[in-house]
Amino acid sequence: MKTLVVVGLQWGDEGKGKCVDVLSEGFDIVVRFQGGSNAGHTVKIDKEIHKFRLMPTGAVRGKTVVIGNGVVVDPVVLLEEIGQLKEAGLEPDLVLSDRAHVITPLHVQIDSLQEEEKGKGRVGTTKRGIGPTYADKANRIGIRICDIVDSDSGALEHFFEISSRRMARLHDSEPSVGVIELRKTLLKMIDQEGVRVCDSGEFIQEAILSNRRVLFEGAQGALLDMDHGTYPFVTSSNCVASAASTGTGVPMLLLDSVMGICKAYTTRVGEGPFPTEIDGEAGDAIRERGHEFGTVTGRPRRCGWLDLVALRYAVRVNGAKLLAITKLDVLTNLRPLKVCIAYDLDGIETRTLPASAIAYSQAKPIFEELDGWEQPEKPWREVAEAGMESIPEEMREYLRFIEKQTSAEVAMISIGPDRSETVIMPKARKFLFNGD
Ligand code: GDP
Ligand code: IMO
Ligand code: MG
Repeated sequence: MKTLVVVGLQWGDEGKGKCVDVLSEGFDIVVRFQGGSNAGHTVKIDKEIHKFRLMPTGAVRGKTVVIGNGVVVDPVVLLEEIGQLKEAGLEPDLVLSDRAHVITPLHVQIDSLQEEEKGKGRVGTTKRGIGPTYADKANRIGIRICDIVDSDSGALEHFFEISSRRMARLHDSEPSVGVIELRKTLLKMIDQEGVRVCDSGEFIQEAILSNRRVLFEGAQGALLDMDHGTYPFVTSSNCVASAASTGTGVPMLLLDSVMGICKAYTTRVGEGPFPTEIDGEAGDAIRERGHEFGTVTGRPRRCGWLDLVALRYAVRVNGAKLLAITKLDVLTNLRPLKVCIAYDLDGIETRTLPASAIAYSQAKPIFEELDGWEQPEKPWREVAEAGMESIPEEMREYLRFIEKQTSAEVAMISIGPDRSETVIMPKARKFLFNGD
């Protein structure tokens, strides 16, 4: 196994950053392939905490990192994160696709204006300009990294002119920056030491052919995927594993394995249906214990029980054979634990996700109860060190239940935010770290 795609299986914030950090020890290159600075990925190593919105998480381990063509790049954020790494004594080795689209301050402004205009029907976006940038890409008026490198092309001026006119006409507003200032920031990003602009597909493919191992780091999650998620309450990119191919230019057949990351419960930020959402005290308890507040926006995350209908669906659309279950520690002493195994849709029991958000918002969860677990005598870090044998039996039962319901294999569990609070199944360890 030379390549692994890691994706979120819920509505984002599953702990992808932490899992990618742990796994990237065994890889040479870590690649982002979709989304933009709407992502918020956290890595904790003892007292050190790194938060990334755009930079692939592997930068913390000094790996070569790639931002593929499917990502939308905000130069201001990228510059900030390069600075953040340098401050921590790390020199990023970053490959930036010449085909990636650029988020400008105009896109960020339009994101907010559109949300206001939608009123009650708003998506609850991160207001980072993601939707408007992908819309411009599809509309064939977007700005790409190659347009900045070739400053004589006139593409930036053309984009600026069209966008300013549209802003005035549709939103009665004007850009907060001028085209000269915009070009300055864009060039500053590209001129950073350690940033290489090239065809990401060619770069990664050559690396794979030279036996280097590549990890693809997904952002958001299957239920936020533009095609497969809970439309229209989704993001504007494909977040499923197949996007690792289109979002980098690496052929699909070079993607060997898919690991889906899933929290032991469910959270969602922003609007949209959420059948297992818990109102009241139990939901508040999970939010407090799990520190469920958005990394990017600081918004409180909506919390609910594990939804196995949604998880089965996400495992299927991703083709995920491996699972990482995170934040199990957060459910400690919550007994019994509820898990949703089916929905009641208008009196009919169903085990699939309805396409319509209106229908989905009426789905009532059908729960099964499982015994929860108590805090073991040792702290979680020591439990993790001791391995799978020392985790509570009820937790093991919870994992077996997930495996049975999804037909996927739990390869890794996370029982705390720290890098060390992780258990990798012995069978998966060899495969994940050595590729056997
Ligand atoms: P991502 O977007 O999927 O990378 O996830 P985020 O980083 O946005 O959110 C996950 C949060 O949970 C971060 O604050 C992590 O430090 C934290 N976290 C990750 N795994 C665990 C875990 O197993 N237990 C606990 N308590 N926190 C965790
Ligand atoms: P990570 O990578 C959680 C949500 C927003 C909103 C919807 C659309 O950290 O898991 P957008 O700004 O993308 O147009 O917003 O998607 N959303 C996320 N929720 N984690 C994320 O990323 C998210 N990225 C976008 O809250 O509901
Ligand atoms: Mg996040």
